[in-house]
Amino acid sequence: MIDQAIKFDVELINRYDKAGPRYTSYPTALELHDGYTEANYRQEIIKSNALGGPLSLYFHIPFCDTVCYYCACNKIVTKNRQHAEPYLANLLKEISLQGRLFAANREVRQLHWGGGTPTFLNAQQMQKLMATTRQYFSLKDDDTGEYSIEIDPRETNSETIKQLRDLGFNRISLGVQDFDPAVQKTVNRLQSEAQTFAVLEQARAEGFRSTNIDLIYGLPLQTVDSFSKTLDKVLKVSPDRFSIFNYAHMPARFKTQRQINDADMPTADVKLDILQRASQQLAEAGYIYIGMDHFAKPDDELAIAQKKGKLYRNFQGYSSHSDCDLIGFGVTSIGRVGDVYSQNVKDLESYNQLLNQDKLPVYKGIQLNADDKLRAAIITQLICNFNLEFLQIEQSFSIIFAEYFGEELEMLLPMQTDGLLILTETGVEVLAAGRFLIRNICMVFDKYLAQKHQQQFSKVI
Ligand SMILES: C[S@@+](CC[C@H](N)C(=O)[O-])C[C@H]1O[C@@H](n2cnc3c(N)ncnc32)[C@H](O)[C@@H]1O
Ligand code: SF4
Repeated sequence: MIDQAIKFDVELINRYDKAGPRYTSYPTALELHDGYTEANYRQEIIKSNALGGPLSLYFHIPFCDTVCYYCACNKIVTKNRQHAEPYLANLLKEISLQGRLFAANREVRQLHWGGGTPTFLNAQQMQKLMATTRQYFSLKDDDTGEYSIEIDPRETNSETIKQLRDLGFNRISLGVQDFDPAVQKTVNRLQSEAQTFAVLEQARAEGFRSTNIDLIYGLPLQTVDSFSKTLDKVLKVSPDRFSIFNYAHMPARFKTQRQINDADMPTADVKLDILQRASQQLAEAGYIYIGMDHFAKPDDELAIAQKKGKLYRNFQGYSSHSDCDLIGFGVTSIGRVGDVYSQNVKDLESYNQLLNQDKLPVYKGIQLNADDKLRAAIITQLICNFNLEFLQIEQSFSIIFAEYFGEELEMLLPMQTDGLLILTETGVEVLAAGRFLIRNICMVFDKYLAQKHQQQFSKVI
């Protein structure tokens, strides 16, 4: 059982604050290359079917009605609801093509609709999407799957939540970001508390088992007090989980972020103070820090899984289900089948063209080699469970840890001196002060993290 305490050490966090990946995968998505083809993907599915095992399905619905200036998600902003129709037709086609390749008896343990804004689809379209998924895959009917959806409370009506529950969803995540009217105005996301909490209450009443709220710290005009007030308001309605994202401000990459005035951005010190205050409030309210922006109540399944050392991480974030093969559907989706990560094309045009030719829309991928798998196991163990047992890795991968990772172990020594972790002959234990800096610790084991990539990641805090 692990101790889930955290310690917020401003001096340490400042010293370690550099850009780094969020490790929803290792190698990260940046390593996917276009030498990988549809034929490679098909081969991998054959191998994975031979092994069997449960599946996880991810569906990307890219559309949003309005743009939030801070947004770094893969989305298409349009007021024209007609765009959903041809996209849905292609998505259904993709489900049928992929569905025929995967063994029919493989149970779907996890399912997620993300975006963009999944509820950009109307009731009939959502129904169709789920019905087609059921037609080609073995969805669980006893409500024991982890079936989740991202909701923009501004994009739901009185019927939506009930319908989603009837379709089989049992976990819901609501985008909020900030309730301060001035902040909302500068980021072009006007969203009332009443509307947001009505959706949350309805989800509870319909029997959604886990509720999550997304907030972002570091947005323009935010202050320690203003963010603390937002958090207090949300704490009153007691969601099971929080995602408190660090605002990734990369205007060179995301055009709409250029609408944000530099002068309105909180300084690095203010950001850190906001996070510190937020962590205190969450701890006082009884939430546990899971890692990488996520907090949960102690009786939430993520917190329980972590306590037992059984937490996992995939492209959708933390999960209490062990590694399933993950199939991505829709533009930009990333999947993991066997030892391969693969990604679908990014634009609607190519997606449409490939599906019209009955081709899978895969355009990039990476076949993990033995070293990738070894490092992925280490990073997953550290980022999910905050410890590492060398023996377990040695037995699984037939290596001598100290010999294979001599250089990395040296790199951990200054972190030990700084109180981030304890390094012993038998393993690594991440200490309370190292938990907010877990990606720095994981970065030590990342072979691809060459200088050229660092600028493509957001800062750690
Ligand atoms: C796909 S959106 C959630 C669903 C829905 N579109 C909405 O906004 O309510 C995923 C989440 O990513 C987070 N996000 C988007 N852009 C971000 C950025 N630049 N930095 C940090 N978090 C960001 C927001 O918290 C957002 O709720
Ligand atoms: S935050 Fe959500 S609603 Fe806003 S633009 Fe991004 S994906 Fe769309």
